[in-house]
Amino acid sequence: MTDVVAYETHGAVAVLRLQNPPVNALSHAVRQGVMAGMDRAEADPDVRAVLIVGAGRAFIAGADIKEFGKAPLEPHLPDVCNRIEASPLLVVASMHGVSLGGGLEVALSAHYRVAQPEARVGLPEVHLGLIPGAGGTQRLPRLTGAGPAIDIITSGRHVGAPEAGQLHIIDRIEAGDPQTVGLAYAQALLDSGAARRPVSEMAAPAPVDWDATYAKVLRKGRGQISPAQAVRAVQASAELPFAQGLAEERRMFRDLMQTDQRQGMIHAFFSERAVSNLPELKDVAPRSVEAIGVIGGGTMGAGIATSALLAGLHVVLVERGQTAADAARARIADNLEGALARGKITQEQHDGMLRQALVVATDYAALSDVDVVIEAVFEDMAVKEAVFAELDAVCKPGAVLATNTSYLDINEIAAKTSRPADVIGLHFFSPAHVMKLLEVVVPDQATPQVVATGFALGKRMGKVAVRSGVCDGFIGNRIMRAYRTAADHMVLEGATPFEIDDALTAFGFAMGPFAVSDLAGLDIAWAMRKRLASTRDPAERVGRYPDALCEAGHFGRKTGRGFYVYENGAVVPNPEVMERVTAERTERGITPRSFSPEDIQRRYMAAMVNEAAKIVGEGIARRPLDVDMVLLFGYGFPRYHGGPLKWADLQGVGSVLADIETYAQEDDFFWRPAPLLKQLVADGRSFDDLNKAAQT
Ligand code: 3HC
Ligand code: NAI
Repeated sequence: MTDVVAYETHGAVAVLRLQNPPVNALSHAVRQGVMAGMDRAEADPDVRAVLIVGAGRAFIAGADIKEFGKAPLEPHLPDVCNRIEASPLLVVASMHGVSLGGGLEVALSAHYRVAQPEARVGLPEVHLGLIPGAGGTQRLPRLTGAGPAIDIITSGRHVGAPEAGQLHIIDRIEAGDPQTVGLAYAQALLDSGAARRPVSEMAAPAPVDWDATYAKVLRKGRGQISPAQAVRAVQASAELPFAQGLAEERRMFRDLMQTDQRQGMIHAFFSERAVSNLPELKDVAPRSVEAIGVIGGGTMGAGIATSALLAGLHVVLVERGQTAADAARARIADNLEGALARGKITQEQHDGMLRQALVVATDYAALSDVDVVIEAVFEDMAVKEAVFAELDAVCKPGAVLATNTSYLDINEIAAKTSRPADVIGLHFFSPAHVMKLLEVVVPDQATPQVVATGFALGKRMGKVAVRSGVCDGFIGNRIMRAYRTAADHMVLEGATPFEIDDALTAFGFAMGPFAVSDLAGLDIAWAMRKRLASTRDPAERVGRYPDALCEAGHFGRKTGRGFYVYENGAVVPNPEVMERVTAERTERGITPRSFSPEDIQRRYMAAMVNEAAKIVGEGIARRPLDVDMVLLFGYGFPRYHGGPLKWADLQGVGSVLADIETYAQEDDFFWRPAPLLKQLVADGRSFDDLNKAAQT
């Protein structure tokens, strides 16, 4: 018996206890251990039932994801599941914590299932670019019917024990030590003479409209393959005998294992966990944070305050005057109302947050006791400097002073205080109580403890925190500017903004860049272009057609017209756009050429990858995976591509560099290959090699 699966007998019941911390993933050793445990139990004439239980915080979190991509070793998980189900002994699973993926599939192979009231089950393989591969798509529908099984498998959601009970996924809910509960249940089943009950022998589920369901799931997945494949696998459970359905599931699982999407999703899974794991902060304790200050209660300040309240923090918000203070309070109340309506908080929590945890003031003195202050006033250096001078005067020693600036130089802001070591950037994204990304921007003098406090606060607020150095736009906005410019250039050269948006939604983005501009407001980028005009290199090509739209008063959604016209719920291209683009092309002497969707995708991605490589090369981002997570959690980058630098690896960094060098023949001002990209190609290395080197 291996260490990872303990074996003991209690009367007529053999217990197989999985002990593979932290979450009992079904590694090769665990699979071997379960097989050996089943053999041993069946060989013991005194044993009549087997109880499978997990040690630690979960029953089983699924297959061991770290083994994916390597040669699979026997026994394979489907064989383990079939072995369990086919046992002549009565098999019971006692589930606590999570039973996910292969973990639920093991439980579904048992003949009876008991779970703790807080237990959660699910088949989240689609989040890894896969479908369940050990019978989940064949056994689950036999218990729940096809509709609920499709919902659970295609969404990958966690199902709580009460719902799982109603759906017949579990037979009983009982609180207590999982092994004790499981033993009692197994004994009761033996005492009552209960028969073995293999799910595979249950009736196949009734059919649903497979093609319509497939089409719906495919559309919703925006190009993600695995959820739609899962519908076909469930269809097999209804149409084929069990063994054939299982073989069909296995074939699809193996095919999906070979896809770039699977690699992209698994990169995202591990990077999401690695991103806040910085070696230099390993032994650094963050300062304790219970109360935060927020300066400015506009779009961002109100969102940040809401997010902090939802995380259980006390918030003191300071605005310029009573009217602005009232407006800020109303914004926060509105946000909390939304959280209440969506069931995220109870009425009591809502009232407590609004009445006790939140103070809205107009006097900076109210900030004397807060642990962290986040400034979110206008994007204007003079205003920010004045605010930081006030903070310097009123905040207690040891308070972290943070700015939410999008572009301004945080070193300059820090230098204006008497405590630059306590100043950092905490760059939230709009709407701040919804968006998961937080860039923790680290100026030269910030101490590791201050940085660690930023990360700890981000975690508490449920954010994915990413470290960034100081530069214009930090990681995300700097990259956005590059790919936006590539899109504008394509428009000047012959593509329409609408073709570009279509090509990029086909790539998997939720929205194309021009639709995003309409949402953000065209006036914002216009103001920035004006600000940068005086310092711009004359060789830089900047389209004038967006200025013309703004001059005509078209600021996007908020004015009903931008790149698109928004009328009566319909969205159609604004005909004025191409009139202005055509005029500008004529003025510039450009003969428009056509761009295929693939041309558009490659140029856009090349711009993104090139800027990202510069950012990693300059040390603004520590690792390629940091950039990937910024784009995934802040900019709607499709998760199944893993992030721009994972995408580049999957294409081959050499082919991306070759694209950039081709484009540079037309415009060597914008298309300057990143030195790091050239270096990687020369060395035959990938971005992932850099990630791995940084982990060790
Ligand atoms: N395999 C390998 N490692 C796993 C794992 C798995 N299935 N699940 C979690 N881990 C690791 C994490 O990487 C992390 O490692 P680290 O400490 O070195 O960073 C550690 O376990 C703890 O995980 P979290 O930090 O995520 O802890 P949480 O408590 O926040 O979440 C969880 C726990 C809900 C189990 C979450 O980790 C999770 O969702 N895991 C993935 C579950 C999953 O997708 N299972 C399906 C696998 S595919 C499959 O089973 C195929 C089959 O159908 C054939
Ligand atoms: P906003 O204009 O909606 O809000 C600014 C608020 O600050 C106003 O309510 C104003 O009354 C208040 N204010 C101004 N001076 C003040 C002072 N001295 N003391 C107290 N309050 C004061 O602006 P928004 O969009 O919330 O932006 C704020 C900051 O966040 C800017 O630095 C911006 O660059 C940054 N940011 C904005 C994002 C966005 O999408 N809007 C995203 C990320 C960062």
